Amino acid sequence: MHLPPHSRENVLPLPVVLISTISKAGIRNAAPWGNITPILRPLDEIVLASWLRRDTLDNIRETGEFVVNVPPATMVEEVMICSRNFPPEVDEFEEAGLTSRPSAVVAPPGIEGSVAWMECRLVEEITREKFALVIGNVVRLEVNDRYVTAQGNLDIDAARPLCMVCSNDGIRFAYPVDAGRFAPYSEMFVRRS
Ligand SMILES: Cc1cc2nc3c(=O)[nH]c(=O)nc-3n(C[C@H](O)[C@H](O)[C@H](O)COP(=O)(O)O)c2cc1C
Repeated sequence: MHLPPHSRENVLPLPVVLISTISKAGIRNAAPWGNITPILRPLDEIVLASWLRRDTLDNIRETGEFVVNVPPATMVEEVMICSRNFPPEVDEFEEAGLTSRPSAVVAPPGIEGSVAWMECRLVEEITREKFALVIGNVVRLEVNDRYVTAQGNLDIDAARPLCMVCSNDGIRFAYPVDAGRFAPYSEMFVRRS
């Protein structure tokens, strides 16, 4: 079956994060984002794609800072409340019943109960006719102690970080399941003897 090219995210699972920002006036905002990815391991930058009419984009332009919160799957109802097009003067933490978590190095708060928090500073915006690519530097990364294994890695079975797969009429939410295959990075290199 062929799909139209714009249906890429019907076949490509995406992460779901909640981006928290504050406006110049100090209003708290939170919005779900699927178009977000780190730029190459092990660098520090992250890139997100935004339609031009987003309070999140306005706030990042105004303050130069944002927090990428990784919600557990149990936060999906709050995620969908934050996806509503509230006007910029509405505190979306209050609307969704989210609790602020003070950030360490940026002004926007994180969201309590998240799996992890990435505090970011704007590096560059690439603006196109319909969208903007926002490149941020992750200046502080913290994972919720509740979801850390004895080896210091993310316990994905406990954390259930939220993901999405789009369909023709909506979004199906999911979370990763261990496929039973672990690959050390060294496996990617050809051994020469
Ligand atoms: C799961 C999910 C993922 C989303 N991903 C994006 C995205 O990657 N880029 C974007 O511009 N909007 C995305 N949206 C839409 C915004 O979250 C939505 O328009 C929101 O109201 C924007 O809030 P804001 O105006 O307060 O920034 C997504 C919505 C949902 C439900």
